[in-house]
Amino acid sequence: MTDITLISGSTLGSAEYVAEHLEELLKKKGFSTVMLHGPDLNEIPDNGLWLVVTSTHGAGDIPDNLQPLFEALEEQKPDLSQVRFGAIGIGSKEYDTFCGAIITVDHLLQDRGAKRIGDLLMIDITQHEIPEDPAEEWLGSWVNLLR
Ligand SMILES: Cc1cc2nc3c(=O)[nH]c(=O)nc-3n(C[C@H](O)[C@H](O)[C@H](O)COP(=O)(O)O)c2cc1C
Repeated sequence: MTDITLISGSTLGSAEYVAEHLEELLKKKGFSTVMLHGPDLNEIPDNGLWLVVTSTHGAGDIPDNLQPLFEALEEQKPDLSQVRFGAIGIGSKEYDTFCGAIITVDHLLQDRGAKRIGDLLMIDITQHEIPEDPAEEWLGSWVNLLR
């Protein structure tokens, strides 16, 4: 069984790299993982643990590769009450809509019954040139909450 399904939403690659870095760390900690970059709803298990990592584009928008998934969640309204998830956003405080995508994702998943584990991490790339660093720190606490 897969312990953790990582789901990334990215336009330029940063969120994908962060998700891949976290996947490596999770594997070192003994978790089994599946990585899905911009998956469709039918590719994702409707139970277990998800770790969503997404940047924000446009004006607070979900990246194009994650739009179909979240449109499907809004339209099909699946029951996600057996899902627990962690949520990491990457964005820039230069925008009023800082990390708008992960905020939307967080609301949509909770509306479908999923339970968030831990705090929403919102990484400001103007403060963190290497977004992997704050993500790695957050992951350490998140993993402790899973035990
Ligand atoms: C056209 C454009 C629009 C953006 N809009 C937002 C935004 O609304 N909110 C935000 O927090 N960051 C915004 N950003 C910043 C990106 O989220 C940030 O550069 C991020 O590192 C990109 O990650 P990615 O490489 O995974 O796509 C925007 C960046 C670009 C280029």
